Amino acid sequence: EGRYLLGIDTSCDDTGVGIVRVQNGKPEVLANALWSQKVHRQYGGVMPEVASREHVERIDAILEDALSQAGIPLSTISAVAATRGPGLVGALLVGLTYGKGLAQGLGVSFYAMHHLEGHIQAAVSEHPDLPFPHLALVVSGGHTHLFKVNAPGQYELVGATRDDAAGEAFDKVARMLGLGYPGGPAISKAAERGDPAGVALPRPLLGQKGFDFSFSGLKTACMLAVKSGVNADDLAASFQSRVVESLVQTTKRAARALGLKHVVVSGGVAANQALRTAFKQSGLKSHFPPMHLNTDNGAMIALAAVKNVLAGDVGNDWEAEAEAYLP
Ligand code: KG4
Ligand code: ZN
Repeated sequence: EGRYLLGIDTSCDDTGVGIVRVQNGKPEVLANALWSQKVHRQYGGVMPEVASREHVERIDAILEDALSQAGIPLSTISAVAATRGPGLVGALLVGLTYGKGLAQGLGVSFYAMHHLEGHIQAAVSEHPDLPFPHLALVVSGGHTHLFKVNAPGQYELVGATRDDAAGEAFDKVARMLGLGYPGGPAISKAAERGDPAGVALPRPLLGQKGFDFSFSGLKTACMLAVKSGVNADDLAASFQSRVVESLVQTTKRAARALGLKHVVVSGGVAANQALRTAFKQSGLKSHFPPMHLNTDNGAMIALAAVKNVLAGDVGNDWEAEAEAYLP
């Protein structure tokens, strides 16, 4: 028994449907079905119109997948949550509209969720006893945001990237090296063979007082290094170590300034092993999502809605629209 929440994310190039059971106030991920679109590889980046069309074509099958992973019929679902933004508007619209239709058809509540809250909750749900306030670092292809989380659902922005997101930088440097898309996994693989001190690269925002991030200068330095013919593995290792160092050091400074010990790290780049190791050695208490919940997925959106359900929010978000930018 318990309540069964269905979560949908179609914010970018992954079609995700997850199912979470809430029992005695505790969430458990029962299913996390995902279609990671492959068509974008030939372009070296995500083509928005192509992404929307693929979501439309795949979402029925991904829902079926999720239900069979969970071993429940659709009629068991007691609430539906979908991402309203931020993301690609056309892509978001598919999952949001699909979710509303599903909830209407089932006669259940509908929650429109913030994508970043999904990433954060993917990490938090594994650590239900995490004290408040704590820090949350979201590092993905579209975001590099550091929040102070004061209470469930209460986020205060502490720092953000001034230009490229960390994952975007991984993707761009991978493209320079001809490693394909998405670039994060390819760079980290090449980095294992390279020397992190092999290529001299700048330290982003060294000496700043605030807690922002910047990766475009690093990206430009990588481009110049590629043109001068450095070893690709060394460049990958050197670039990765600069990104990791910048993320960990800035988070550490923020933690010290705010008097906090715990940080949850999530988003696609949280899959990076070097980043995980550096955080473990940082002196902070760091918490990561399970590996299958790092990148975009539907389960994290259901997890984000758990607090709404537990707080007695009836879930009447029928008017919610897809938003490319959402504060
Ligand atoms: O969270 P996500 O799936 O999508 C967004 O909301 O953006 O993150 C995707 C990003 C991509 O930029 C990808 O290159 C990066 O996460 N990524 C990684 C790794 N795996 C995925 N970056 C570094 N190391 C990885 N192992
Ligand atoms: Zn994401």
